[in-house]
Amino acid sequence: MMSNPGEADTGVSVRRWQDIPGWFTWRDAQEEAVAHFPGGGTFVEVGNYLGRSLCSLAEVVADSGKSFTLVGVDTCRGSGPEGPRGIDAHGAAVADGGGTFAGLLHRNLIACGFADQVLIVVGGSVPTADLFADASVAWVHIDAGHDYDSVAADITAWRPKVMPGGWLSGDDYIASAWPGVVAAVHDLLPRAQPWSTIQWRWVNE
Ligand SMILES: C[S@@+](CC[C@H](N)C(=O)[O-])C[C@H]1O[C@@H](n2cnc3c(N)ncnc32)[C@H](O)[C@@H]1O
Repeated sequence: MMSNPGEADTGVSVRRWQDIPGWFTWRDAQEEAVAHFPGGGTFVEVGNYLGRSLCSLAEVVADSGKSFTLVGVDTCRGSGPEGPRGIDAHGAAVADGGGTFAGLLHRNLIACGFADQVLIVVGGSVPTADLFADASVAWVHIDAGHDYDSVAADITAWRPKVMPGGWLSGDDYIASAWPGVVAAVHDLLPRAQPWSTIQWRWVNE
């Protein structure tokens, strides 16, 4: 699953998204989104860490021949301790970068050849959502803070940004491991359904 974040810090070992540490499992969801939506739309991924899922998305788009505006959003300061065991999964990368892994994320995008295809916003999910017009985004995928309040805030901020027919989705839809994710999705998006591997998805019908 995840290798040491420091392994990606050389600027030499990363050439493909598969080389980037992370927790990405929804490649089939990316392929479905790229096949489903006409080119010209906007996809936003909230929570990028070092760019594993974001570079995969850029590759799926590039392979499709379609053109999408791809936006990654991350504070680049990690989520802090979370989950039942209070693990600070991003802490080493944050510390390695002197309090931010923004440089490493950007270098990984460059190394994978997608720096010109992906816009990175270094900032919080909720204030970044305000930069987008309502009903303007085809697909927003949320993989940021996994506690109830964070997921609820992300859903509340991004749901109005999803265009009619668009998708709002997120990672780690597992009650045993991430009860806050499941509870927030149930409370705010009762029509959401399990999707892909361990994702949830709400369609703006
Ligand atoms: C689980 S990781 C993302 C993993 C990534 N999608 C991958 O495939 O490897 C969660 C990320 O969310 C970011 N994050 C946490 N809270 C955030 C917030 N409020 N706004 C933006 N990013 C946030 C963290 O910095 C961290 O990089």
